[in-house]
Amino acid sequence: MSKTKIIVANWKMNPESAEEAKKISFDIKESGNDFDKIKLIICPPFVFLNEIQTIFARSKKIFVGAQDVFAGQGVSHTGEVNAIMLKNSGMKYVIVGHSEKRAAGDDEMIVKKKLESVLDSGLHAIFCIGEKNRDEHGVQFNEVKGQIESALLKIPKKIISKLIVAYEPVWAIGKSENEAMKPEQLHEMTIFIKKVLSDIFGFENAEKVPILYGGSVTKGNAKEIVEKGNVDGLLIGRESLKTKNFIELIKEI
Ligand code: PGA
Repeated sequence: MSKTKIIVANWKMNPESAEEAKKISFDIKESGNDFDKIKLIICPPFVFLNEIQTIFARSKKIFVGAQDVFAGQGVSHTGEVNAIMLKNSGMKYVIVGHSEKRAAGDDEMIVKKKLESVLDSGLHAIFCIGEKNRDEHGVQFNEVKGQIESALLKIPKKIISKLIVAYEPVWAIGKSENEAMKPEQLHEMTIFIKKVLSDIFGFENAEKVPILYGGSVTKGNAKEIVEKGNVDGLLIGRESLKTKNFIELIKEI
């Protein structure tokens, strides 16, 4: 497990104005000197990316990433943004395959294409996976394995230094603090994910891929999830916008 923890702030479709986005960013930047052994990746909506990127341009601990990317070729795609544009705008990271994008129509093929375009452009991918349901027969393991294999089976090994896996069980996203996944269950799943990665890339390569957890992480449960869940960091939605809580959460970790 890497010593530096990775925290991804997924702002989703928040906040409503650039002023608010800048306010949150400046508050986080001010606390940045207190963060030890943390790499923070803030993922605002596209429309704020450039402004937020300027705020953190010189930071060695805080980076800016996009929440999505266009998957195909060519330029006749109204409303879309491709990986090269993101790279040329100073981004280093892109979230791919978030369950909310999957629910909105991104199937395994699209997720794979997005992942490839991010990695081909030299950006880092925060590749989201996670089962919709769990049962005692282990349906969750099959679903997670399928998601990993369909996206990664043909990816060149050298690219995995640019890969971060964010495990987010869909049933645990957007819920209350107590409904986050239990660290023991998470521990079991991270071992499973490492095994699947290891079957594809070999043990040593797979060990280098950070695995994050996401789903109802709060200031109250983050530390325990990281300590007992066998993860290298967290992907945080709502709590990342409550700046005071978020900064405390980071310091605790
Ligand atoms: P949440 O969202 O932390 O608000 O549950 C996590 C996510 O969807 O990435």
